[in-house]
Amino acid sequence: MTPSKEIFITTPIFYLNDNLHIGHFYTLTIADVIARYKKSRGYSVSIQTGSDEHGEKIIKTSRKKGMRPSELIEKNLLAFQELLKKLNFSEHVFVRTSSKQHLELTKKTFEELLKRGDIYPKEYSGNYCIVCEEYVEKKITSCSNCKGNLALLKEPAYFLGVTKYYSWLKELLKKSNDFIIPKELKKNIFNNFLSEDIRDLCITRRNLSWGIPITNNSELTIYVWFDALLNYISSPIGQRSFSDDKIEIIQIIGKDIARFHCIYWPIILHLLNLRLPNRIVAHGWILNEGIKMSKSLGNVINPLFLLERYPSDLLRSYLFSQITFLKDGSINEKKLGEFYQTFFINNLGNLLSRVNKMLWLYNEGIVPSIASYSEDSPFLKEYIDLLRLSVEEFSQFMEDYQLTLAFHLIETLVANSNKLISKITPWKIISDNKSLVCYLLICLVNGIRIINFLLSFFSPNFSSTISESFSFSEIETNWNNCLKLSNVEGLVIKRFKLLFEPL
Ligand code: MSP
Repeated sequence: MTPSKEIFITTPIFYLNDNLHIGHFYTLTIADVIARYKKSRGYSVSIQTGSDEHGEKIIKTSRKKGMRPSELIEKNLLAFQELLKKLNFSEHVFVRTSSKQHLELTKKTFEELLKRGDIYPKEYSGNYCIVCEEYVEKKITSCSNCKGNLALLKEPAYFLGVTKYYSWLKELLKKSNDFIIPKELKKNIFNNFLSEDIRDLCITRRNLSWGIPITNNSELTIYVWFDALLNYISSPIGQRSFSDDKIEIIQIIGKDIARFHCIYWPIILHLLNLRLPNRIVAHGWILNEGIKMSKSLGNVINPLFLLERYPSDLLRSYLFSQITFLKDGSINEKKLGEFYQTFFINNLGNLLSRVNKMLWLYNEGIVPSIASYSEDSPFLKEYIDLLRLSVEEFSQFMEDYQLTLAFHLIETLVANSNKLISKITPWKIISDNKSLVCYLLICLVNGIRIINFLLSFFSPNFSSTISESFSFSEIETNWNNCLKLSNVEGLVIKRFKLLFEPL
């Protein structure tokens, strides 16, 4: 199939100052799920992620560890690459802010905007949060985001003149209904950031050697956020996408970094005569026992630690099933184990084993041909209607970024497939009505094929295991043919007892 349209999906670039965070895994998984779904719809999809390698945090952590900043980065970069592999993250472009192309683009952009007067020199006097790498204009003593202490700064600096573009931005936000997802975030941006007390953005730091120096002033380096946001256009695919209206751009971020992406980033793009993304999707926070994770509280969950004990697909599925997409939610090992037991072992695993067993018991492991049987039970008719409806609703949920509702639909389909077996009781009717049992098996194998197709966006590894066992890998399932019941006839199913072993 020739791709009808191109999509460019970005994740934020990740700080490499510290251990990995389950939040990193979350942001990446969301991008990956959306990418897999869009590919299944025939789009040509490019994904970009990367590492945010400058800033004061990197210097501070490396000093504490007795390492050079570059050593710390190379070490943490390896852990990050390992995470991408374990997560089964789709093929992607990886941007490092220390790369030559990024450095050159950032310097060039700074100089261009300086020449045009959109960047201008002025002293900065105020607070700075090192943890969030954020200038804090409000008169407060601790950071409202991470609750950490603020550093008082008074230094020569350069500012990006953003405020004169606020009315342009406000108009744009007012007009567009789905530029920012979720919609409530738009209100928040208006009320908290685009109201009074607006100031231009300071975009340099003094005596902070770990950054990109500005030309003609070796004391000043470019503010890490200005540097970081430009990552989206420092790769060839980023440049191309932000210069071409025909490419759909979806930017995934966590809500903690919404201000940078919903205010400064659109203005920077506007200043550079580039187009805006189609969507900025801001997800919620992963909490630990209801509390935001932070280094100071010592409650940060490292995804690599969880991935040593649990399959990556379990983690991926948990994040969508048990945490309402775009809202905050908790994760811990107990909940993860319970979810595995309930959904994968008791519900999905049970369905797969039952259908496998029946196929072997009643038809030598072969899926019967639909032409030989007819559907003569209202339960089966209902089930086929349910399959059709589920496929439609699932697509709508995915298009609307309702990823948890989409996952719940898979869970409901599994539950209803199990119920169908209990309603028809094949073991009671097999001797009198093999025809009905065969039709039931055709319906159930198709149900499993559809469940597996929908699950493949969330849990690609589990989905391949199911495909192998049911021989779905021999036939292609896509949006056009997934409801065609005759597709599975003649498939020989591998005999198995359990596909999901206890952990
Ligand atoms: N480097 C910046 C982003 C620059 S993008 C131009 C940054 N890095 S980060 O490593 O701190 O965060 C990366 C991603 O992880 C962000 O999307 C952030 O929202 C996400 N998470 C970090 N902690 C999180 C949770 N506790 N929960 C969910 N995601 C959060 O910010």
